[in-house]
Order: sequence, then structure tokens, then C-alpha cells
Amino acid sequence: MKTTYIKINPTAPDEAALKEAAECIKRGGLVAFPTETVYGLGADSFNEAAVKKIYIAKGRPSDNPLISHIAHIDEVSRLAEFVPEDAKKLMEAYWGGPLTIILKRKAGVPGIVSAGLDTVSVRMPSHSVANTLIRLSGTAIAAPSANLSGSPSPTTFEHCKKDMDGRVDIIIDGGECSIGVESTVVDMTGEIPVILRPGAVTLEDIISVCGKGMFGGEYADAPKCPGMKYVHYSPDAEVFAVGDIDNFEMPPEEGAALIAYDKYAHKAKNYKFYSAGSSDSDYAARLFYLLRKADEDGIKTVYALLPENKGMGTAIRNRLLKSAGGRVI
Ligand code: TXA
Ligand code: MG
Repeated sequence: MKTTYIKINPTAPDEAALKEAAECIKRGGLVAFPTETVYGLGADSFNEAAVKKIYIAKGRPSDNPLISHIAHIDEVSRLAEFVPEDAKKLMEAYWGGPLTIILKRKAGVPGIVSAGLDTVSVRMPSHSVANTLIRLSGTAIAAPSANLSGSPSPTTFEHCKKDMDGRVDIIIDGGECSIGVESTVVDMTGEIPVILRPGAVTLEDIISVCGKGMFGGEYADAPKCPGMKYVHYSPDAEVFAVGDIDNFEMPPEEGAALIAYDKYAHKAKNYKFYSAGSSDSDYAARLFYLLRKADEDGIKTVYALLPENKGMGTAIRNRLLKSAGGRVI
């Protein structure tokens, strides 16, 4: 398939140009687009054949459900059977933004969107390009991250293009994604909000709104968030998480690189240093980008600082430990 590229300035999205992409969604096509978290690979949530194409383009296992993206809070009623009070409060507090909410699926939403589960996951992005595209397409857009299954999620147009060129109808170039890791996924179908995937909206944020909340999913016995059980975020390079950076010595290896905060640049010695900036939010914004860059630079082994388990650090740790296959040194 021949892929068309459309460049859009996120500070003033050109609606006429985005209309072409919206028409493509309406016709059952695939459009990759930027969000504030990562690039997404979108199709009309209500078009079963179109959603099927997402799984093929990504090489995604068919038991891994998709998030439906909406442009306005009210549209959640097209997807969810019922919206509990606490879920409404979370939507008001964090939409548009990096929070995906799992609710009971409404009859009429194709089962393939949810990989057969009786739930549906919904997110309203804050990104101007994503929101305009969804609004113009007049539907909900089902979209996983726009990477080939198993690879780090793309946070730039170039990385999105690398995985999706020739597999989708249109790729929208809207620049870099500011957050850099995928949305927090919270299950609101039970008594207590349960975080199945950590992200920029933290457990503390959820507790501050609902008065309760906990981590679940892969932390519990049965994986409730099917995507979390697969190998994830793996570049070609071998990745090791560095738990104790103060006592870390770079092993004498050809083609090694260190990802860490600027204050640890000296630890890379004469090996390649990739800056994670100076804060957890800088690090989150760069992690996937740097893992992909390591491959582009021919790096064989990546050592990456494991941040503290708090705030945004929890999401970085989750993604990094998956890339490293759990190896911490
Ligand atoms: O930030 C994001 O969430 C990005 C952008 C494009 O919005 N999307 C994204 O989608 O990360 P994806 O498909 O790569 O990850 C969605 C995760 C998967 O782990 C999936 O298993 C889980 O959410 N998920 C989706 N729907 C679910 C449901 N109904 N029940 C449980 N888990 C669900
Ligand atoms: Mg993904």
C-alpha cells in the first residue's frame, strides 16, 4: 500500500488538510497520528473490517484489545454501557489527557475492538491534531501505539514512519509527542479504581480524585490488561536496567551506551551517553526515542538508569523493565 504523509502544525492544525485524513477514517482506512503520549494507529471503532486491519498492520495478537479515542467527554456514551460516578470525576479531572478508562462495553461496539472482552477502553487525548482528527471523522477512533508489535512505541514522525510506512493509508506528521510513554490505563468496572498500566496520571492523582485506587493487572494473578503479558518495547540492542547508578561502572564493551540523567554523564566514560535530561518527565519523553536511536546508531548494549518508583518514575520503570526483560544490574 502507498502511504501518504500529511504535515500538520500542532499549534494551529489545518482543518482542511486534516479533513483528508478524517475522510480516510470514515471510508474504513488506517491513519497514524500523533497524540500527547505516543503516535497511534487509528481506524473507525465502529467499522469491524477497518479495526481488523489494525491488527494486521501491527502484527498484533488478536486477544489484545484496543483503546477508542474520542474528542468530547459526552461521546463516551456511544461506547460505554454505564459510566460510574468516580469515572466521571476522573474524566473531568484528566480528559483530554493521558488517561484511559475501562468501562462496560455497550452493545453495538464491535467485539473485535475489545478482543471479545465485555469491557471497552476509552481515552480523550489532549493533542490538538488527534482531537481535530477525531472530531472531523465524526466517530470514535480505535488506536494502539503505532509501532510494530513488540517494538518501542513511536514518539516522532520518523519513528512512526519507520514502522508504519507501506502499512497504513496516511501518516500525519505532527512533530514530537510531549509525554513519551503511553497513557495510564485504569479499570473503573469494579468497586475500586485499578491501574493496569502506569502512566503520566499517577496512582496518587487517581486517589486524590476518587479517594481510593490500587495497582492491579500484571501485579495480580491473572493479566487483566492482555497487552501487558507480551514482550514489549524491545529494541534490537540488549537492554539492562541500572538499579544502583552511584555504584555502576560501565563494562568495557564495544558498542555500549548509557541512558541516564545529565548529572551521570561522566559514568558513560568514553562510551556513548544518551541524555535522559534532568527529571522523570524528561526521561519519559525520551526513553522510547533513545531505545530506537540506539538501534539506528548500531549500539549493541544499552544500560539505562532505573528511576525511583514514584510519580512518573513508576511508568518509566514499567516500560524499561519490559525492554530489559526484567534484568536489573
Ligand atoms: O497512550 C496511549 O494509550 C496510546 C495512544 C495512541 O493513545 N495507545 C496505546 O494503545 O498505548 P496500546 O494498544 O498500545 O495499549 C493499550 C493497552 C494494552 O496493554 C491493552 O491490553 C490494554 O491497554 N487494554 C485496552 N483495552 C482494554 C480492556 N478493555 N481491558 C483491559 N485492558 C485493555
Ligand atoms: Mg502499544
